[in-house]
Amino acid sequence: MKLFAIFGNPVSHSISPLLHNSVIEHFKEEACYGRYLLKNGDLLKEKFLFLKLKGVNVTVPHKEAAFRACDEVRGIAKEIEAVNTIVNENGKLIGYNTDAPGFYESIKDFRGVKKILILGAGGTAKAISLFLKKEGFEVEILNRSENRLNFFKEKGFRTFNWESFEISKYDLIVNTTSAGLSDNCLPVRENVLDALMKEAKYAVDVIYNKKTPFLKKAIDFNLSYKDGRDMLIYQAVIAFEYFFDKKYKRKNILEQMKEIIS
Ligand SMILES: NC(=O)c1ccc[n+]([C@@H]2O[C@H](COP(=O)([O-])OP(=O)(O)OC[C@H]3O[C@@H](n4cnc5c(N)ncnc54)[C@H](OP(=O)(O)O)[C@@H]3O)[C@@H](O)[C@H]2O)c1
Repeated sequence: MKLFAIFGNPVSHSISPLLHNSVIEHFKEEACYGRYLLKNGDLLKEKFLFLKLKGVNVTVPHKEAAFRACDEVRGIAKEIEAVNTIVNENGKLIGYNTDAPGFYESIKDFRGVKKILILGAGGTAKAISLFLKKEGFEVEILNRSENRLNFFKEKGFRTFNWESFEISKYDLIVNTTSAGLSDNCLPVRENVLDALMKEAKYAVDVIYNKKTPFLKKAIDFNLSYKDGRDMLIYQAVIAFEYFFDKKYKRKNILEQMKEIIS
């Protein structure tokens, strides 16, 4: 029996067990995926090995601790310095970041996107912006405060805080801040957001299953928009591929996960 889990704090709200167990059942794998409330990120490796897990997903606030806990980190996760998927390969913990490619997959149906503005400078912004830059998009970062922008400056991004920002035209605006998650805040000042939305074609909020104030603006300005549901599904699909060593077709995993949360 292969055991998997999601590590996080809080973790009770996570729909990862639902997504993964539905595919496990569909493919008749001898496996099970559960939740684990991990309070101390420094104990991640110890708990992983003690529970004899084959793999985990890692959510807030432990993605950086997961990066440090791995014996080897592969792909874009090395640059992001955050891991959300770990697989036990012959006793070694191998780390990946599937948030970044998950987001990219979720916007592949947006046509004609060249220039992207990322709102926010936290972990999700790092993952998304580095991946999109590698894929050839022109990516700029706007954050409320200056402190978190250093990471992006070092990686060669054009960055702004609220005071230094000058409005220009972007095809896609992505909200990666937590504004709107449990409040009614916009991620930037309203007059700035209005000016950005007037010029843009698309808007994505990585918060899922909620019409945030940011998405309501996108609707007002008649933009094509998405919440974070597709990103969530795609990051799970790619994680599942790693968990089962790419044994199953991405299309089939995706179909099953979409069906279970439709
Ligand atoms: N759909 C998915 O699969 C998926 C995956 C991962 C994360 N998420 C979502 O992504 C969001 C961000 O997660 P994270 O881990 O990147 O967070 P984080 O590292 O804590 O970063 C939070 C960012 O939001 C900004 N912020 C917070 N409140 C704000 C406000 N009221 N106005 C303007 N900016 C504000 C912060 O700016 P300052 O630097 O100025 O404080 C910071 O840049 C969460 O809502 C999470 O649920 C979704």
